[in-house]
Amino acid sequence: MDDGNAVVKKALLEQVWPHMTERMKNKKLARISPVLVGLMGSGKSSIGRRLAEYLDVPLLDLDEMIIERAGCSIPEIFGRLGEEAFRDMETATLGDALGRHAVIATGGGVVMRAENMALLKEHPPVIWLKASPEFLAQRIDGDLNRPLIAAGDTLNKLKELARVRYPLYEECADFILPRGDMEKSEALAEIVAFLNAWQKRVGNPGRKD
Ligand code: S3P
Repeated sequence: MDDGNAVVKKALLEQVWPHMTERMKNKKLARISPVLVGLMGSGKSSIGRRLAEYLDVPLLDLDEMIIERAGCSIPEIFGRLGEEAFRDMETATLGDALGRHAVIATGGGVVMRAENMALLKEHPPVIWLKASPEFLAQRIDGDLNRPLIAAGDTLNKLKELARVRYPLYEECADFILPRGDMEKSEALAEIVAFLNAWQKRVGNPGRKD
């Protein structure tokens, strides 16, 4: 889409939005449960929150669910039990979250297991928030809550993660949203436009709850 279209779409959304009732907002996108994937720092939780608000459904943030279930932080899980134990929890939590009527924000490493990839493909639409390692490094450098980059050398670590994971995100994604200077409201408008088009294309798939 060219920039002009995106600006018009954003302006329309901002004008119309306050005047719409929750019922009107959800009429078209009533049963969609989008899943957000992407490297850490790409905005899955923050954009997920806005999208969930827009669709008037809960946000299921897998990292938050894991923290709640484990009763301790992600660095503590990595430190005490190891990454594999974290990945086991992630797979279990993903299985519980998928299929529920919600926006689902995954952790960046969710695509690393083949069984998770299979689950993601069975639960479209999957939306990849695609951001460059340079963009992400600026946002998350020094974040001690993210064990994979807590020891420093953030940019190189992100480059390596991107090398391995980009093809996997691409493989499971129904829509790729390039992140960068884009405002969050613009990102939301792009996603909503995709969801409308997607629903027209695939109909209204049933959900388990
Ligand atoms: C991870 C990303 C984190 C979290 C954990 C591992 C990863 O989630 O699940 O630290 O492997 O990329 P965010 O992507 O929400 O930071």
